Amino acid sequence: MEQSQRLLIAVDGPAASGKGTIARALARHYDLPHLDTGMLYRGVALALFRFGGDPGNAFEARRAVEGLEQIDLGDEELRSEVIGEIASRVSAYPGVREALLERQKHFADQEGGAVLDGRDIGTVICPDADAKLFVTASPEVRAERRFREIEGRGIKVSLEDVLADIRARDERDAGRDNAPLVQAEDAVLLDTSAMGVEDAIAAAVRAVETARGNT
Ligand code: C5P
Repeated sequence: MEQSQRLLIAVDGPAASGKGTIARALARHYDLPHLDTGMLYRGVALALFRFGGDPGNAFEARRAVEGLEQIDLGDEELRSEVIGEIASRVSAYPGVREALLERQKHFADQEGGAVLDGRDIGTVICPDADAKLFVTASPEVRAERRFREIEGRGIKVSLEDVLADIRARDERDAGRDNAPLVQAEDAVLLDTSAMGVEDAIAAAVRAVETARGNT
């Protein structure tokens, strides 16, 4: 009898690169469960925010992980810029990352496979993934996308502020000692700067097929 084939896909990349859209589309295409790991860090950030905790304090941030159970991961507040900013700060603490590690590995360990997206999926969480994508775009393009998304929610911001925030987030994510944002050696780079959504998804599917040896 033929062995059932696992398909574990790791999608990493910086803020607003399109990795979430691509990961969701891949999950639909291959009928796999999907985990947006940024939501876990955002959940910790929201728990900390609601406790009135200090994002500059590693102990308080670690304690907020225990509050994650009380957070609804569908809560719209998780997507706010304030929570994204706190998430980017608390995710730099080794204690916070360690506390979220098992949960992510457990999700990845499903029989038929899964799609996970984040910053360290291909390097730390799923180093043995069957396909790894590193999705990126220029800071200007990412800022423009994020700007439109925020405006679409009826919130007033300036493009300059969004770009400054994207750059600060990149620097923190790539510059931290623990699980920094870095392309895994065996990941396929997908620069979506000049791509529309449909083209980016098609390129991602092709990359997965190539990684599986189907092309
Ligand atoms: O992807 P998203 O912007 O929702 O993630 C929020 C923050 O969580 C990121 O800025 C990043 O610092 C952190 N994060 C992380 N590792 C992951 C996913 C997200 O450090 N795997």
